[in-house]
Amino acid sequence: MTRHLGQEFLYLSHSDVTSCGLTMPEIIAALESMFREKGEGRVEMPPKIGVHTMPDAFLHAMPAFIPSQKAAGVKWVGGYPANSERGLPYITGLLILNDPETGVPTSLMDCTWITAQRTGAATAVAAKYLARPDSATVGILGCGVQGRSNLESLKTVFPLKKAFAYDTHFDGAARYAEEMSKQLEIEVVAVADPKQAVVQSDIVVTAGPILRKPHATIQPGWLAKGAFASLVDFDSYWHPAALHEADKFTTDDVPQLNHYRGIGYFQNIPPIYADLGELVTARKPGRQSPEERTMACNLGLALDDIAVAPLIYARALDRQIGTWLKL
Ligand SMILES: NC(=O)c1ccc[n+]([C@@H]2O[C@H](COP(=O)([O-])OP(=O)(O)OC[C@H]3O[C@@H](n4cnc5c(N)ncnc54)[C@H](O)[C@@H]3O)[C@@H](O)[C@H]2O)c1
Repeated sequence: MTRHLGQEFLYLSHSDVTSCGLTMPEIIAALESMFREKGEGRVEMPPKIGVHTMPDAFLHAMPAFIPSQKAAGVKWVGGYPANSERGLPYITGLLILNDPETGVPTSLMDCTWITAQRTGAATAVAAKYLARPDSATVGILGCGVQGRSNLESLKTVFPLKKAFAYDTHFDGAARYAEEMSKQLEIEVVAVADPKQAVVQSDIVVTAGPILRKPHATIQPGWLAKGAFASLVDFDSYWHPAALHEADKFTTDDVPQLNHYRGIGYFQNIPPIYADLGELVTARKPGRQSPEERTMACNLGLALDDIAVAPLIYARALDRQIGTWLKL
């Protein structure tokens, strides 16, 4: 409950959000319970709508409601591939939380940290069901915000020993390797060839730019038998023949995938085996043998954000973080 419901709301800046100190295991647990609710059909989320002011860029409106968590709200998020040239993040935006009983806004918060962390957490939830439990090596292609949060989340679930980092800017991969090896206390090596980051890895995460027409760098035969891949940048990185090597290809929400198909993405992907809600509720089995190649193409759902934002809000109330503003 806000101090004065209907009169004030809590504004949380980027640094307010991060200083709430929500941990990756907490975020993974929140997403897994949300996907259980989704699998049981107890959530509401229309596919994203958006406007597109530049080629390969988006501004998306992402509303969701999770009754069991009394969580409702909307994220308004931009993704602009050319922002790095201006010293700006790829992903920026704001999230509004609403009181589900009155609809009144209770909080407005920066959503960049939530977007980074919940996307990493969604990879970890998918990997719990689809990757080999003994997975020890990870290939990261795209050493930016997502490259970081995805490796962090995987480290909380798997006995990781080594990661291979590839980025089109080698110095970025080298910086990433130095930073992440210290942060996670595993060996992280920068590699100069994307193939080196794929062929040696039990888990592969692709997190470069999302492109309507895939650059299709990853060729058939690169992803090892028994490996799991998380396609954070959709199918952009993968040659269609490499995608079709998957024994199980999953996503987080089929209607949303179909929506993207309708506007020109995902023109040559394998059939969808399951969504994440079906895996979490055991309606469909996840990995069934050590040899399977499995893939998760999580598109990123409003439900992910609305599962996490109330935890930030509650923590902020508890620790008296943020600024109260008049409605
Ligand atoms: N699926 C989801 O839920 C979800 C959520 C958030 C972001 N994303 C997507 O994840 C991607 C990465 O986002 P970010 O916030 O980490 O961006 P970022 O700008 O922080 O990092 C992107 C990195 O990729 C590198 N890069 C560019 N082209 C590359 C290539 N071909 N191979 C390897 N590296 C390459 C860049 O140099 C940069 O270091 C974006 O496409 C974004 O839209 C997906």
